[in-house]
Amino acid sequence: MLGGLQFSCPVQRIKTKLINERYMKKPKRILSLFLIVASTSFANHNALDLYLRSHGFPMTSNGRDGNYTNEGYMTTKQQKQFTEHLKHHRITSIAEIGLNGGHSAFHFIQQCKNLKKFVSFDLGIYPETQCAVQFFQDNYGQMFEFFGGPSQRSVPEYHDSNPSQTFDLIYIDGSHEYEECYLDIINCKQLAHKNTIVWFDDCTFEGPTRAIKELVEAKFIVLDGGFLSDGKCGGRSWLQFRYINN
Ligand SMILES: C[S@@+](CC[C@H](N)C(=O)[O-])C[C@H]1O[C@@H](n2cnc3c(N)ncnc32)[C@H](O)[C@@H]1O
Repeated sequence: MLGGLQFSCPVQRIKTKLINERYMKKPKRILSLFLIVASTSFANHNALDLYLRSHGFPMTSNGRDGNYTNEGYMTTKQQKQFTEHLKHHRITSIAEIGLNGGHSAFHFIQQCKNLKKFVSFDLGIYPETQCAVQFFQDNYGQMFEFFGGPSQRSVPEYHDSNPSQTFDLIYIDGSHEYEECYLDIINCKQLAHKNTIVWFDDCTFEGPTRAIKELVEAKFIVLDGGFLSDGKCGGRSWLQFRYINN
């Protein structure tokens, strides 16, 4: 399925034409050929963007196009940070609150080669979210599961239905309201095992920061570190923590 999307990309068609022309006329340009092929395979990372765009949602992980605006997505710099951090963990399962257009989900799925399960919780109110859900279901089948509605309700419901299911990484990027952030952290403990790491995004906002601070002080979680990145879509900051006594 991903292959079909990649081949429909106009940039790749141009690259293929370039490859043909250059290779046929000047066989010694092997290096050029290699670079073009390498950049073509890098374009695989944009399969989600191409899918969203083809359904009328021109959002990319590199920024918004034209006047198209949306709730949010991860920037290229943040992706690089996540990639670096993921190298130190063997992640087989991820729970994520906040799918939106699916950019962080797609990045995690691509980077975590041992991934067996990705469970997504989102209000599901944005049309790009429905589109992203379709993309993941088409391409990843049962590995991807989506639960709509407020995570403060859907996470406990998920746990009730799957009491033994835990996750290696929990990524929280949903509501920024203090009470909801607080509840998300409390509820996600039920989805954690003793080595689970939690990444909480957008910690420049008052809601997440206050909730995390209070739960650190209450010795419910322990903070591992905080990470910042800037970008043309604005700065991003996220914190890593773990649950105490899990
Ligand atoms: C910043 S966007 C997520 C971006 C996404 N993680 C990415 O990097 O591509 C926040 C998402 O959280 C969802 N959201 C907001 N409040 C929520 C809640 N109470 N429960 C579940 N999802 C919520 C919104 O619908 C939105 O899709």
